[in-house]
Amino acid sequence: MTAETPEAMPGAGDDAALEARACDAQRRAYAPYSRFPVGAAVRMSGEVFDGANIENASYGLGICAERTAVFAAVLSGAHRLEAVAVCTEASPPSSPCGACRQVLLEFAPDPAAVTVTAVNPRGERRSWTLAELLPDGFSGRELP
Ligand code: THU
Repeated sequence: MTAETPEAMPGAGDDAALEARACDAQRRAYAPYSRFPVGAAVRMSGEVFDGANIENASYGLGICAERTAVFAAVLSGAHRLEAVAVCTEASPPSSPCGACRQVLLEFAPDPAAVTVTAVNPRGERRSWTLAELLPDGFSGRELP
């Protein structure tokens, strides 16, 4: 582990391993158009899955890091979202977009118990619960 990874930083979050996975995944982002590589890691049903943004020359077809991570988890049969980490170069670290918040909510049995932590490789960190990021969100619980 190199000195600049968040887990080596003072004040590292409770889930340093998850943050390190997100920052590792950021290096595998495919973001030639925005030049804004994003890595994400989700802990779902006790396992960690990572993802990165993958862009396309047809811009609207790109997908965010958080969603690639959640979709990888679901493909492995993991449906219970427990924690999220996102790694970008932004300062302050940037939080998940609205579309990703909605996808995260789909798999969160208790959004108030899901911690979402945003970090950057300089060791800056912000965190919220998913309930704070998407208050009164729409979920399958509303459907008949
Ligand atoms: N992006 C993410 O991967 N996650 C977010 O929550 C916000 C935005 C990506 C999409 C696009 O590839 C790039 O960042 C710039 O918007």
